[in-house]
Amino acid sequence: MQQLDKTEGKLSCHLKFKLKETKETMDFIDLKTQQKLIKNNIDHNIGTVLSHGKYIMGPEVAQLEEQLADYVGVKHCIGVSSGTDALLVAMMALGIGHGDEVITTPFTFIATGEMIALLGAIPVFVDIDPRTYNIDPTKIATAISPRTKAIMPVSLYGQCAEFDAINTIAGQHNIPVIEDGCQSFGASYKDQRSCGLSTIGCTSFFPSKPLGGYGDSGACFTNDDELAKAMREIRVHGQDRRYHHPRIGLNARMDTLQAAILLAKFELFPDEVAARVRIGEQYTKLLNDAQQSTAGETITKIEPPYIESYNASVFAQYTVKVGNRSALQDALKQNNIPTAVHYPVPLHRQPALKLVTNNLSISEKMSEKVMSLPMHPYLVLEDQKMVVDKLLKLY
Ligand SMILES: Cc1ncc(COP(=O)(O)O)c(C=O)c1O
Repeated sequence: MQQLDKTEGKLSCHLKFKLKETKETMDFIDLKTQQKLIKNNIDHNIGTVLSHGKYIMGPEVAQLEEQLADYVGVKHCIGVSSGTDALLVAMMALGIGHGDEVITTPFTFIATGEMIALLGAIPVFVDIDPRTYNIDPTKIATAISPRTKAIMPVSLYGQCAEFDAINTIAGQHNIPVIEDGCQSFGASYKDQRSCGLSTIGCTSFFPSKPLGGYGDSGACFTNDDELAKAMREIRVHGQDRRYHHPRIGLNARMDTLQAAILLAKFELFPDEVAARVRIGEQYTKLLNDAQQSTAGETITKIEPPYIESYNASVFAQYTVKVGNRSALQDALKQNNIPTAVHYPVPLHRQPALKLVTNNLSISEKMSEKVMSLPMHPYLVLEDQKMVVDKLLKLY
């Protein structure tokens, strides 16, 4: 596994410099600062692709796959065209289809449930843990039926789901587990990296993700040789060799140019993960300290995210729980502080997926309370203090 501190130094020098700057409007996610740091490498890598001209499945794709598999600590990485396609390719490799059931969470981005439904399968929603917002493993067993073909937990906001418990239940029923790690690339659970915690791990390199490209791409990870072969075939029309198609597949390849860009970005990634952890923890400390009365008691109006002691979240989102979200968002906006809601409507309430389901009251309640704050690896302490200060004043 790659060392986390490989590029240490580059980022910390930069952060000292950033502290002296003043800004009028705050970025929810800052992609420009990172680009300035690695522009030469990005230009160089793009130039290489333009020179060799192998725009489809060029050598950069295999190079990136090798580095990412090593980072995650698994045998195989299969680069694909998006996180959405990673989920689709993974389920197709497992043979999931019409009438099958896939257990998942309703408190996620649409793609999780959408890809299950696209295959003609049925998303069976299980409610979440109110502290972590991830699927509650104690509620999975009763949702399993003879038609259950997979469990698909989402590692939401960058914190891994409860994989030991989930894998145990899945093992008892001989069901594969697909991690939707689209928000958690770089996170770890009990010292193992996200995307290497189950049968297949899927992630997204959408620009705003912890490891984001300059366009769409994603990846599937597995230790299983047969599944890896199937996923490699599925991403290119089910082809095992040129114009031979033993299975139905897709056009779900990762672009060579995206791989070349991600290779340049990946050099900074371990340092950025460390910065994300530090910045997330700093937000929580600022919020907790500011909500402590002089008598020492805590008056919590803004509830920081709860991270399990054995988890290292990459804080794809830094998401707090609040009581008066809409008014607070408006007030913050007027103060140039952008916020977002991930997600305002749980999947079982989406018109496209409306289903008669189990009790999903926690997901419903949380969808009314969660609010994400500006978060990225280049966020400076002064800005964090300003966000927390305004948040509590405007509440
Ligand atoms: C939990 C989750 N699953 C799936 C996806 C889909 O990823 P992509 O946008 O790369 O298709 C996302 C992206 O936002 C996500 O957050």
